[in-house]
Amino acid sequence: MVTLEVNGQQHSVDAPPDMPVLWVLRDLVGLTGTKFGCGIAQCGACTVHVDGVAVRSCVFPVGAVGERKITTIEAVGETPAGRRIQAAWRQIDVVQCGYCQSGQVMQAASLLAQNANPSDADIDAAMAGNICRCGTYNRIRAAIKLAVKEA
Ligand code: FES
Ligand code: FES
Repeated sequence: MVTLEVNGQQHSVDAPPDMPVLWVLRDLVGLTGTKFGCGIAQCGACTVHVDGVAVRSCVFPVGAVGERKITTIEAVGETPAGRRIQAAWRQIDVVQCGYCQSGQVMQAASLLAQNANPSDADIDAAMAGNICRCGTYNRIRAAIKLAVKEA
């Protein structure tokens, strides 16, 4: 058994230590907002926070989490940065098909939590690993800037 804290709640799950956090979240904890895209850390769809830092949960073994706290898209709106990012996402109407967007929001919220006033280069660097097949990149950048402005 592995015990981990997700969105402020303790979960004990019957998972081998090398099982990726993404599988644990979706199949054992029942939180399906975090998406599977590539499974090899190349798309960002599976992004969650571990102690506030964005990680690719498809390649993060659950045995490596330890005491650290996991936050997913289901609860990121309860953090100051996540709340601002989600409000800006709604205002700009960023989403197209939506599949990549929980990962985009998690990545952007982590950026904002660590850098209150990111430059264009900071935004590009932070978001470069999050792929959107619908090409919502311009709206993503606009929404991050709006979230910064409305802080
Ligand atoms: S599913 Fe994890 S980075 Fe693509
Ligand atoms: S909104 Fe469709 S993949 Fe990003």
